[in-house]
Amino acid sequence: MAHARDRWSNRGAFIFAAIGSAIGLGNLWRFPFTAYDGGGGAFLIPYFVALITTGVPLLILEMGTGQYFQGGAPWALRKMNRKAEWVGWWALAGAAIITFYYCVIMGWSFIYFFHALNSALTGAAMPWAGGDGAAGAFFDSVLQVDGSLFFLPGPPIIWIVLGLAATWWLVYLIICKGVIRVGKVVMWTVPLPFIILIMLAISGFQLEGAANGLAFYLNPDMNRLSDPQVWLSAFGQVFFSLSVGFGVMTAYGSYLSKRTELTGSAWITALANCGTSFFAGFAVFATLGYLASQQGAVVSDVLKGGPGFVFVIYPEALSMLPFGDVMNALIAALLFACLLMLGIDSAFSIVEGVVTGLHDKFRIKRERLVRYYCYVGFIIGLLFCTPAGLTWLDIVDRWVNYIILVIGLGTCIVAGWFYPLDKIKAHINSVSLFKVGTLWTFAIRFFIPIVLAVIFTMAMIDNVMTPYSGYKMSWLLVGGWGAFFAALVIAFVIASMPSKKYADRDEAEGDDVPDEDEIEQRNRELIEAGRSPAE
Ligand code: PFF
Repeated sequence: MAHARDRWSNRGAFIFAAIGSAIGLGNLWRFPFTAYDGGGGAFLIPYFVALITTGVPLLILEMGTGQYFQGGAPWALRKMNRKAEWVGWWALAGAAIITFYYCVIMGWSFIYFFHALNSALTGAAMPWAGGDGAAGAFFDSVLQVDGSLFFLPGPPIIWIVLGLAATWWLVYLIICKGVIRVGKVVMWTVPLPFIILIMLAISGFQLEGAANGLAFYLNPDMNRLSDPQVWLSAFGQVFFSLSVGFGVMTAYGSYLSKRTELTGSAWITALANCGTSFFAGFAVFATLGYLASQQGAVVSDVLKGGPGFVFVIYPEALSMLPFGDVMNALIAALLFACLLMLGIDSAFSIVEGVVTGLHDKFRIKRERLVRYYCYVGFIIGLLFCTPAGLTWLDIVDRWVNYIILVIGLGTCIVAGWFYPLDKIKAHINSVSLFKVGTLWTFAIRFFIPIVLAVIFTMAMIDNVMTPYSGYKMSWLLVGGWGAFFAALVIAFVIASMPSKKYADRDEAEGDDVPDEDEIEQRNRELIEAGRSPAE
């Protein structure tokens, strides 16, 4: 019996969904600051080197294995080597951890969005307006941050909990029925924020001091290129931003028909994502230049990285724009609507990746899996809604990035050394516009594993020398390494569970990979029988 599988309604839906996953909260605040830290204009060199040598080859590998083996990351890795299934589960467990806090950041965005909307409708000043640290004070009052708490994090803050609940509810609605609805949603959530970004950039360019901000962003500092940290952060940024190493692109690829073009889609995704990051930098730094000129400061004085940036500096800058209170509030509302749209398709892409993996293995209805996932995500997310939430978020986020490096490494080793990579390559080339060649093979087998191993080792040494962000060692051990190993243990446990579904597929396919005609035939039969392939 051939394996039945849900399908994207067309190639465009797949490309939009992949772009939606890649473009997220990371593009609007993370890229501009990483770029600035890494030497401004000069940072583009390591960034594009990382993109071309590592990001795109891995993206093609992930999408390609999903499409070739017709399954999520654990299934694809298991098909490559029976002993490698856990690597896929580890990726999914790491990705799941991201959703737990990513959705909390979306919860903050909801709060800010409604405040801005309220000001736009009533004409009242935005609660973060007034300069002189008002925006920082507002951020602290929303989150009620208490940096001294950790193990006893205090009660969750009700408004954030409501924002979190709203986010999970949206995620549930969008993905519970399978990828068809995802395809419809991303047709809106991908282009709209882009239009908003263009508007923000245009309004930013007209502001006094904008040119100083842009000069600050782009001015190349070539000396920074000799610092290994800069190269490290360029690779990290490309990984996080392209959503590779999380099993998401594998899951998305698995819903492609086996005849759909692949490498062109991967390149479009990569270029759209990195183009957006680069462009977001213009909107951000033009506005920062304005803020600096209003405060009579230099741009570097108003600069702060991390989540604080989008929620502190940018709202403050928007509240000072010369367009009048109502218009300023409207622009702020647009910014947060933009963040919500950027974030939601990244958040549900991860849930989709995990649910695909579970649905491939266990006989549980997809809708039920999504529902359970959302409940669990919400409950664990409550930790990040407490006064200790920001500390937890910061630590867990850092360690998740380490998991991702290891997974990227593991995936390349399994595909490059424990399976005939040429088979995957032949499949990719049989459907693709741009063929992959010896360079791609070299990247997967040698270059990427070596680079990732070096980066991981350097990051570990760095960590042992200086505790991350000056946090207590016990916090890092529990929040950071705890998450790292908990994900690993969960991966082993799930990988060791027996699966009737796997056994059925093994029996039908043996060591082969499913044939597209068989899959289509099976899908048709299911639809005729009134059932969805996604069940
Ligand atoms: N790429 C997203 C961003 O830049 O915000 C974040 C992300 C999405 C990470 C999906 C991981 C993932 F699987």
